[in-house]
Amino acid sequence: MPRLDRLRGATIVGTGSFLPEHVLSNFDLEKMVETSDEWIVTRTGIKERRMVAEGENNSDLAAEAARRALDMAGLTVQDVDHIFVGTVTPDRMLPSMACTVQQKLGASHAAALDINAACSGFLYGLQIGQSLIQAGASDTVLLIGAEALTRILDFQDRNTCVLFGDGAGAAVLRPCEPGTGVLSVKLGADGEQGDMLTVPAGGSARPATHETVSARDHYIRMRGNELFKYAVRAMEQISRDALAEAGRSAEELVALIPHQANQRIIDATAERLGIPKDKVMMNIERYGNTSAASVPILLDEVVRNGRIKDMDLIEMVAFGGGVTWGAAVVEWNPKAAFPMAGREARSSIAAVKTGAPA
Ligand code: ACO
Repeated sequence: MPRLDRLRGATIVGTGSFLPEHVLSNFDLEKMVETSDEWIVTRTGIKERRMVAEGENNSDLAAEAARRALDMAGLTVQDVDHIFVGTVTPDRMLPSMACTVQQKLGASHAAALDINAACSGFLYGLQIGQSLIQAGASDTVLLIGAEALTRILDFQDRNTCVLFGDGAGAAVLRPCEPGTGVLSVKLGADGEQGDMLTVPAGGSARPATHETVSARDHYIRMRGNELFKYAVRAMEQISRDALAEAGRSAEELVALIPHQANQRIIDATAERLGIPKDKVMMNIERYGNTSAASVPILLDEVVRNGRIKDMDLIEMVAFGGGVTWGAAVVEWNPKAAFPMAGREARSSIAAVKTGAPA
């Protein structure tokens, strides 16, 4: 484990994303439910979304996004200390998807954990990762947001099936001098509002039975209108809180990277914060709402297309089922990361299996 002689910061050193190939357009959905391209575009901003193929699983998307992030960071899977996966659509209830991703990557030194905070999962993971690095409990955190939401969508329910899509995004965190990189992460939750977005059956309270399956209760149910209003209020407030904690102002932001739930939610939030449209990053048109994957996919896009440059100030913000919300202010500074030190003895799969030192 790394020794901690002084407080450390955490900085993002690489990002990656992966989207399944198959495109499901609004016109495809017109053939499945009573809806129209016009309604979906004007009410949400979505034109199309991606959908996993048969045999393609959420962990496959997550692992590929992770490989791309590690590649950008110039690190290998053996460098990873912790893997966190934000998801509400793990491959299975047990084991965690993070363990499946660890196995697919061959990241044999890494501990692995899922985070179920719906669309805020990436930001919840960012605070956990930042804190572990600051505390000296981790040197390299692989943070993933990944969803295969089309697998839990009811394609007979027009209230939900037009909104969501599949995909994965990832980021790698490393220690740096304090005062740059991840400057603040603020989170919130309100379990009182849990019923606004649920999968009613399939958990231990109502295990899957013939009756729950016939009632289609293993699919997402949502009270969209109520969520909409709550989301705008929560995203505005948490964005302000994260900026205040970082000691920065909305005027200093080069880019706002909001969760892509609905174009109108994003517009309303940005307007309340006084952030001009050209600083608000969007890709909802192409991918819809990918829940925990939404923020890291968009982050990866803007990093790779050069929209974010070194030392730019950015803010990520999300709201999701639970309900949960979060925001993070980041000074984009991958170069600030401390170089990799020589590996000290760590637990590894080989050592555990053979009883030999790692
Ligand atoms: N096609 C056509 N008509 C539709 C469709 C559709 N796909 N869906 C709903 N309608 C109808 C409704 O039935 C309703 O008809 P009625 O007036 O005859 O009853 C009408 O359109 C308006 O419905 P509203 O629910 O009031 O529409 P609204 O403008 O609120 O848009 C939406 C609905 C897009 C769901 C919006 O409320 C929204 O985006 N909510 C927030 C979603 C969100 O943020 N979720 C949390 C994050 S996701 C996560 O955590 C995984």
